[in-house]
Amino acid sequence: MPALDDANLGEIVVSEADLKARIAALGHQITEDYAGRAPLLVGVLKGAFVFMSDLARAIDLPVEFDFMAVSSYGSATKTSGVVRIVKDLDIDLSGRHVILVEDIVDSGLTLSYLRKNLKARNPASLEVCALLVREGRQKRSPTLKYVGFTIPPAFVIGYGLDVAERYRNLPYVCIWGGAES
Ligand code: IMP
Ligand code: MG
Repeated sequence: MPALDDANLGEIVVSEADLKARIAALGHQITEDYAGRAPLLVGVLKGAFVFMSDLARAIDLPVEFDFMAVSSYGSATKTSGVVRIVKDLDIDLSGRHVILVEDIVDSGLTLSYLRKNLKARNPASLEVCALLVREGRQKRSPTLKYVGFTIPPAFVIGYGLDVAERYRNLPYVCIWGGAES
């Protein structure tokens, strides 16, 4: 457990209370939009697992879950855009109403790769639910149906987001106050 006086913890960007309120609203919206259907939530590991867990419990529908893990070549704090599937889905997407759940959209390269990849598996529908979108970083504006928060261009940690696998368990999102890796 990181100590609260950890020098790597910068300013809080999204508080625990704001996360709770926004995720309840997203869950409500998804419940209305998918009424009568059983959406399949596809989480992108590892970052999305905390958000997906809370989001799913805010959806009043029979949701199903699957996960995929991707690794992008590049340093810890920058994406190269070349994505490799490390763990693929278990469930067949054909005919399913898929909601891709992401922790953060930065350049949007990971998302555009995943969207193309999942679309090719013939789902009945495919939408994206991203907790965070970093402002001004996407070359083309991505069509994101569900977005939690738009955040300023600083590297953030907590609530699923890590630096070298640490800080994912922080109950809020804050700015990484450590050195660039
Ligand atoms: P993109 O392909 O540039 O959009 O990068 C998206 C991925 O990079 C996310 O799924 C995260 O795993 C990682 N990432 C981007 N920004 C941050 C951040 O501020 N903190 C932690 N991980 C991040
Ligand atoms: Mg990551």
